[in-house]
Amino acid sequence: MAVFVFVLLWVTLSSILCFFLLRASRCRRLRLPPGNLGLPFIGETLQLISAYKTENPEPFIDERVNRFGPIFTTHIFGEPTVFSADPETNRFILQNEGKLFDCSYPASISNLLGRHSLLLMKGGLHKRMHSLTMSFANSSIIRDHLLVDIDRLIRLNLDSWTGRVLLMEEAKKITFELAVKQLMSFDPGKWTESLRKEYVLVIEGFFTVALPLFSGTYRRAINARTKVAEELSFIVRQRRKESDAGERKNDMLEALLAGDDGFSDEQIVDFLLALLVAGYETTSTIMTLAVKFLTETPLALAQLKEEHEQIRAKKSENEPLEWSDYKSMPFTQCVVNETLRVANIIGGIFRRATTDIHIKGYTIPKGWKVFASFRAVHLDQDHFKDARSFNPWRWQGNSGATSAGNVFTPFGGGPRLCPGYELARVELSVFLHHLVTRLSWAPAEEDKLVFFPTTRTRKRYPINVQQRRNGSSL
Ligand code: HEM
Repeated sequence: MAVFVFVLLWVTLSSILCFFLLRASRCRRLRLPPGNLGLPFIGETLQLISAYKTENPEPFIDERVNRFGPIFTTHIFGEPTVFSADPETNRFILQNEGKLFDCSYPASISNLLGRHSLLLMKGGLHKRMHSLTMSFANSSIIRDHLLVDIDRLIRLNLDSWTGRVLLMEEAKKITFELAVKQLMSFDPGKWTESLRKEYVLVIEGFFTVALPLFSGTYRRAINARTKVAEELSFIVRQRRKESDAGERKNDMLEALLAGDDGFSDEQIVDFLLALLVAGYETTSTIMTLAVKFLTETPLALAQLKEEHEQIRAKKSENEPLEWSDYKSMPFTQCVVNETLRVANIIGGIFRRATTDIHIKGYTIPKGWKVFASFRAVHLDQDHFKDARSFNPWRWQGNSGATSAGNVFTPFGGGPRLCPGYELARVELSVFLHHLVTRLSWAPAEEDKLVFFPTTRTRKRYPINVQQRRNGSSL
């Protein structure tokens, strides 16, 4: 028995060794981007994680860019990975999605999203569904249909805030309620809140090992996903019945039910589930960080308040914002851009090379991962003057960047350009409008940013809030 185990172990180890030697010899023949693969198996994962768990993760990329240039090789999360801090290469990666690169998510995220989610779709179906999603959240739909609910639900939430508030939690509640309304026409209530609680568990599972036996968080996430899918399936069945009876609603679910593709319930549920995830964390984090950055930059906050007081002065107290109001918020758009640039909620995107790719004198081998880092470009002094400070005025009357070309890509680009980019901007602008005209606030405690596993503040940004209509301010 001992001999058998020894032989088995020897065969396994030698095949692993052969695999790596073969791959190394092929890699030697290719001109890989320079870099460091770090320790066997774990590579440089620990250095990356420890940098991104601090308020200043920049040294991880800065040090490598200084040594190797803006395209370098590293080894993270179990795989050799080519990092790009170069805007031209990033654009090339984004534009060639589906041709030279495929999107690539860890197993935990793919399993929890479901295979019919837009984020995992490929080919012709992805193209059709991406444009359907874009058409659901384009400017004219927002103007004619979604804005009124965005205004109402944000106002409703902000009016209920008093005393100490965890801004990140409250912002998440807002963006979830908005997404449920936009996708399925449900107003907030007990059902949306209990669905959101399950969602929180699903999202916690994204950054775990996808092995239920080893990770309790992943197990909980899978169970929560099952519950969310059951709830959504029930809604889909109800709506099919209503639709068959000739009842029509103006939302995403209707578009999916009425489409020519004849989607099954399972497909629709996966699709909705992922859309709810995509807009929820991102937009609520950007809301929270905009408030944090503004609080730390009083001159910007004062200018923002002035812009919104002027809009409010032309309206009665609870009169909703209209599209023309949204279009007359130039400084707010500077704040939105600058928050997106500095916060980098999606710091970059992972892709996998589907063939050997020759770029800038290097080869990215087929099957390798690449990471197009938006963060590295957004915080690069060569592209943005004084890049590491929050300065909304840089966007006044120009593109914000000091270098040519499109170097500002907070919403990605190419075939997977974020379909919610306009919706997120509108939601954030309306949120800032009601926040600065209805409330005053001050940080309740010091709170710090971290960037791993996601961008957020450690304490969910606690603030003390007062309603301004009571005549008092903090
Ligand atoms: C500040 C808020 C947001 C940011 C920074 C953001 C950023 C991004 C980025 C960078 C991507 C590209 C991912 C890739 O290329 O792999 C993306 C994709 C996506 N976003 Fe957003 N997003 C935001 C809000 C929203 C909202 C409100 C929605 C709701 C409609 C949304 C829905 C999506 C979807 C469905 C995708 C996947 C597109 C695809 O794979 O074809 N996002 N987002």
